[in-house]
Parts: sequence; C-alpha cells; structure tokens
Amino acid sequence: MNQLQKEILELKNEKNAIILAHNYQTPEIQEIADFLGDSLELCLKSSQIKDADLVIFCGVDFMAETAFILNPDKKILLPDVSAECPMAHMLPAKEVREYKRRYPDAAVVLYVNTMAEAKAEADILCTSANAVPVVESLPQERILFGPDMNLASYVAQKVDKEIIPIPEGGHCYVHKMFQPTDIMVMKKKYPEAEVLVHPECNPELQEIANQVLSTGGMVNYVASSPRKIFLIGTEVDMVTRLLRENPDKTIIPLLSEAICENMKLHTLEKVKNSLLNGEFQVTVDPEIADQARKAVERMLALSR
Ligand code: 13P
Ligand code: SF4
Repeated sequence: MNQLQKEILELKNEKNAIILAHNYQTPEIQEIADFLGDSLELCLKSSQIKDADLVIFCGVDFMAETAFILNPDKKILLPDVSAECPMAHMLPAKEVREYKRRYPDAAVVLYVNTMAEAKAEADILCTSANAVPVVESLPQERILFGPDMNLASYVAQKVDKEIIPIPEGGHCYVHKMFQPTDIMVMKKKYPEAEVLVHPECNPELQEIANQVLSTGGMVNYVASSPRKIFLIGTEVDMVTRLLRENPDKTIIPLLSEAICENMKLHTLEKVKNSLLNGEFQVTVDPEIADQARKAVERMLALSR
C-alpha cells in the first residue's frame, strides 16, 4: 500500500465510511475498496449497508444513484462528479413513457445502467448477470428491454419471448470497440486460450466466444476453471482483478484499448477529497426514488 492509500484507509475509519468499487476501477482503487464487484453485486451490497454513515462509490452515476435509492438516509459520494455512464443517458424517462404508450401490453425491463427517472418507469431492473432469469420471471410474453441492444439480443436468444430493444442503437462505447478479428488475431497467438466476452459486446463476438459473462461471472469462471489461459473481452481493468486473484493463470485483455474513461475519472486523490470534504453528494428526488426502488427491489428479490 502506498502512503495515500494508507491515509485513505485511516480517514475511512475516522469517518465511518465504506468504499464500494466496480471491477473497472484502477488497481490502486481496487486495493482500497471494502467491496469490489459487478453491478448486481454492488446493488446487493448497497442494499445491505447498515453501520456506515458515508458511502464512497467508485463507479459511475447510475450506480451511485442506485445506492442512494436503497439508502436514502445515507450520504452517497462520487469522488468525481462527472463520472457518468454514457449508455445510461441514452434512454431518458420520457422515451420509456413513449414506448410504454406504443406497447401497452409489454413489460418494461431496464438494465441497471439507466438513470433513476427511467428506472422509475420500469417494472423490474436487471444487470448482465441476471437479465435472462429476470425476463423469464415475468408473465408477459412481450418485453421492452433497454438501453443496451447487445444485451437485448443476448437475452432474445436465451428466452422464448418477444424482446423489443429500446431505444434503437443503445450501446456501450467500450464494448462496441471489440471486433471478431480481435478474437481471431489473439486466438492465433494463444490457440489454447478460452475467450470470455461481456454481453454488451456485439452479437458476432458473442457467437464465437467460449463464454458470455458479466464481470462477476468472469471472476467466478476464471477462479473455478481448470483452464490456464484466458482472453478477456471487457474493460481492461477486469484483467487487473483477475490476475491479482489468479496468479497461476495467464489472463490477457482481448483489446488493450478497451478503457472506460468514465470509470477512470476516480483517483486516489479524489477519494481522499470525498472523505475530507464530503464531495460529491448524489441524491435522487424522493418521489422518483420511491418509484425506482420498487423496480430495484423486485430484481434484488430474485437475486438474493
Ligand atoms: P457488470 O459489471 O455488471 O458486468 O457490468 C459492466 C458494466 O459495463 C458496468 O457499467
Ligand atoms: Fe457505461 Fe460502458 Fe463504461 Fe460500463 S463500461 S460504465 S456501460 S460506458
């Protein structure tokens, strides 16, 4: 641990704070996190915070909002206030309402990568770890699903229901970077490697990968697999965690340019500032939070 990391841990105890971090955070932040996980694990963890007064969320805006929705009495801080997920802004609440008017018989399943106001319009939320069982749990045969088109197409292949992706073209710019040729090139170099890709990647990639997994799914898969070499098709710092936890395995990013600049806005200095100055607080309008909480809780009830 470096000096700054030690100072953060001391301040954290002093302020009775907890640090939650997503798997795409930098290694320095991963090391000081009380809890590191995928979107679903972070939601579950957020729903179980009891004693901490302060939650430092090293993730993007929609994750901090969800933590607030589940803990409206706690102070939720984003170390860099501009850490937004661009995909979460591709489906505004107004647009969800329009789709609902067009398809009144459909259930609305929104990816947790949406802003609170959109979540308030959903019947239930999902993450990439539970999208299939969430859709299967619903009585409706027709599902409005957004905002990630690739996750929608992944779900459509696994369930016997009509999946209508909303909006047209919703995507993650990081996972869109991967091309099938990336797999071909890397498989030539590492023919014995197993290829794991995230469901936010394009369907052509999903088709030729060995496994399609959420980041938490990748953590479990690599730890329990007897295989020794893995090519990882998601944000590069996923590989940082996998290497730290599996030092006996060879784990290589499928594409080293796959960096989520938004996640990377958080730094140790900014985490220290959050602890010292209580910046930057994330809140949600109480009525919207109450409505959105129902959709979050429905998802969590299926995942606990
Ligand atoms: P998961 O960690 O839930 O797989 O999601 C990836 C992601 O892009 C989060 O923003
Ligand atoms: Fe959003 Fe993609 Fe970054 Fe995840 S990786 S936070 S989906 S932009």
